[in-house]
Amino acid sequence: MPAISASASGKIILFGEHAVVYGRPAIAAPVEQVRARVVVTAEPRRRLGSVLIQTPDLGGQAYLDELPQDDPLGLAMRLTLEHLGVSRPPACTLWVSSTIPIAAGLGSGAAISVALCRAFAEFLGAELPAETVSDLAFEVDRIHHGTPSGIDNTVIAYAQPIFFVRGQPIQLLQPASQFTLIIGDTGVRSPTAAAVGDLRKAWQADPERYEPLFDAAAEIAIRARGWIESGQVQRLGALMDENHVLLCEMGVSSAELDRLVEAARAAGAWGAKLSGGGRGGNMLALAPPERTAAIAESLRQHGATRTITTTVRAHKPPQ
Ligand code: MEV
Repeated sequence: MPAISASASGKIILFGEHAVVYGRPAIAAPVEQVRARVVVTAEPRRRLGSVLIQTPDLGGQAYLDELPQDDPLGLAMRLTLEHLGVSRPPACTLWVSSTIPIAAGLGSGAAISVALCRAFAEFLGAELPAETVSDLAFEVDRIHHGTPSGIDNTVIAYAQPIFFVRGQPIQLLQPASQFTLIIGDTGVRSPTAAAVGDLRKAWQADPERYEPLFDAAAEIAIRARGWIESGQVQRLGALMDENHVLLCEMGVSSAELDRLVEAARAAGAWGAKLSGGGRGGNMLALAPPERTAAIAESLRQHGATRTITTTVRAHKPPQ
């Protein structure tokens, strides 16, 4: 049997992170330049049920039945087995690799879960629809992190820009024209769960302070959807700036993020903001096409350890 592989891209949140955890809408898009990949090979010489997971990037390997119950890779595989009603899979080895930086706001955890569920299911003879893969990856995140909104697993499983409201059916976005984003990494690793948990404590202590911030972020996401779907993309810049102010007030920015956001604006970006959990990780800037190289260069000069230039493509309606 030939090896089976599946991959999933990273993601970037354009508007509404954190507020989305509290039921407000948010917008996210896939980032194709970074990917998680899983390759499954059959091992007919090993006993039935022997599943070996290799993570060469992390220098590790373990059998599925040795992994702790809350290990995210083990969870993704157990949930896939459970979903398919398989108790003892044929022996196999799974290679898990990823170019998505961990704890950087680019959806590394969800992308690994999505690629893992897809590849393992296909090895077991099933092709899972995006909705099922998204649900399984959400379950991994929920058990592992506590209170995710579900935006990461959704945008990554569907691999299309989305307008997302927790608990509501997915709404795929249809950009009328393409636009370019530059993503800058602070190099500071910051687990999303910690930023989400701290904000939750602050909100519980003082909901009157945080609810209006979430409402304002929701309005921004709704306006942004309008500009995206009517092709007035330059106007998104001012909304990014506004959203960044709100995120600062929520307490999830950092000196490094603010420095990169400022540098992008000074180099000619239409707008910029932190993206994802914050406290570190990545920011993003919206750029006129002729300024992308200069903005990326300026971000690196101001401390970005890596930049990614990515395009959100226009949606062409079917003929
Ligand atoms: C993480 O990519 C985005 C957050 O809003 C958390 C979540 O939605 O689960 C910070």
